[in-house]
Amino acid sequence: MEKEKEKRLEEVRQRILGCTKCPLHESRTRAVPGEGNHDAALVLVGQGPGENEDALGRPFVGRAGDLLDRFLKGVAIDRSDIRITNVTRCFPPEKRLPLASEIKACAPYVLQEIDIIKPAVVSPLGNVALQLLLEPSAKIREMRGKPIPQRTHFLFPMLHPAAVLRRPDLLSIARQDFVVLKEFIESRPELRPPPGQESFF
Ligand code: URA
Repeated sequence: MEKEKEKRLEEVRQRILGCTKCPLHESRTRAVPGEGNHDAALVLVGQGPGENEDALGRPFVGRAGDLLDRFLKGVAIDRSDIRITNVTRCFPPEKRLPLASEIKACAPYVLQEIDIIKPAVVSPLGNVALQLLLEPSAKIREMRGKPIPQRTHFLFPMLHPAAVLRRPDLLSIARQDFVVLKEFIESRPELRPPPGQESFF
């Protein structure tokens, strides 16, 4: 089962690396696939790569990634135990936001990842991920910090770390959301790892 998940995620990764579905492939340095545990109980979904991610081909490795790492460390979640991915996979020119058509072309990749991994909890970070994974009119400021049951998993929306970098007054709210997320996972026996598996994630 685990090997099968690994194999199917590798196929998604290869499709992302070779993707030419939208014009962003012409300007990207590297496409940015998801990374982390293929059997994760928690999947974090960001908006899409920035300049650093474009240079390295890895998600959340710039300033927003540093802040995300601090949030995770604060609740003792190891990055290697979870999955970190994005809605879009290529850095748009001049740091503009991804267009609706680019999001539409890229969206199947993150949906495939979630379908393969079958996590207990998916956390959209910010509006782009929330609006794809819940509904187009959803607002992160209204939905953040609470679990939302879905057919196969819970959504747990959280602020995007880049938004917190722009608005340091949101720092304590964002930190607290990670505490609530960790407590939520630990409080629900059905989200716990099977006996013998050490980590919740
Ligand atoms: N880095 C990512 O990988 N995704 C974001 O949404 C922001 C920064």
